[in-house]
Amino acid sequence: MTCDTSNPPRTLARAIRATLLEPHPRTKVMATRKLVREWRQGGLAPVFDVAMPDTPGRPAQPELLPPRDMPKRRKAGSERGRIALWHSLAHIEFVAIDLALDMAGRFGGEMTREFVDDFLSVAADEALHFALIERHLATMGSHYGALPAHGGLWDAASETRHDVAARLAVVPMVLEARGLDVTPDTRDRVKTLGDARGAIILQRILDDEIRHVRYGATHFDAEAKRRQAAPAILWKTLVSRHFHGAVKPPFNDSARSAAGLSREFYAALV
Ligand SMILES: [Fe+2]
Ligand SMILES: [Fe+2]
Repeated sequence: MTCDTSNPPRTLARAIRATLLEPHPRTKVMATRKLVREWRQGGLAPVFDVAMPDTPGRPAQPELLPPRDMPKRRKAGSERGRIALWHSLAHIEFVAIDLALDMAGRFGGEMTREFVDDFLSVAADEALHFALIERHLATMGSHYGALPAHGGLWDAASETRHDVAARLAVVPMVLEARGLDVTPDTRDRVKTLGDARGAIILQRILDDEIRHVRYGATHFDAEAKRRQAAPAILWKTLVSRHFHGAVKPPFNDSARSAAGLSREFYAALV
């Protein structure tokens, strides 16, 4: 490789791959924000010339455990219970950074420019969510990595790595949509326990996640049409095949409908 200044800009795929492989959480957060900024400023060539890694970089801590080995939730009111809650949220947001980067880097070459813009903006949001939660954990004397974390969150990505429609169906439209269902309760609970700052963070996350689900639903719809498939039928087929958990109520119908997810999709799966 030469170092002369006439080098073309780095490709987007190489920048995404390097960011995915970054193991250190704060470095990954900064690299994600820098990447998205560079992309928006035209500093990265829209070229998809390298493959995405099967597994992103992960720090040595937290220890990743199979879901069945995760310690039981402690009482929500206790300080340890509070830390456990925010630690699990930090882990979800940390993996969400990689999920969004992988969506853009793995499937960007076969999708529209808008798809790439949308999922890179999701990656920037997830990096912000992680940073907000990390800072909140620090006010409790804790940090990301202090507790074990759920080791199965990347499974959905591996399971859907060959098909953009399956990825969209499962990640934004099932997993992130699930966040819309549970976050209002968590927000209200932390507020009742006197954590006003935590409630503000969760509201911010909820507002952003509605947009993430909407990006998923919009691009899924377009992809279904390209395949001349009825979106709701294709979605049910892909979710049954690739998602091994349950799609279960209670649903936050108003947030889901704000995200463009109609009951026609998820009600029939219950
Ligand atoms: Fe998030
Ligand atoms: Fe999200």
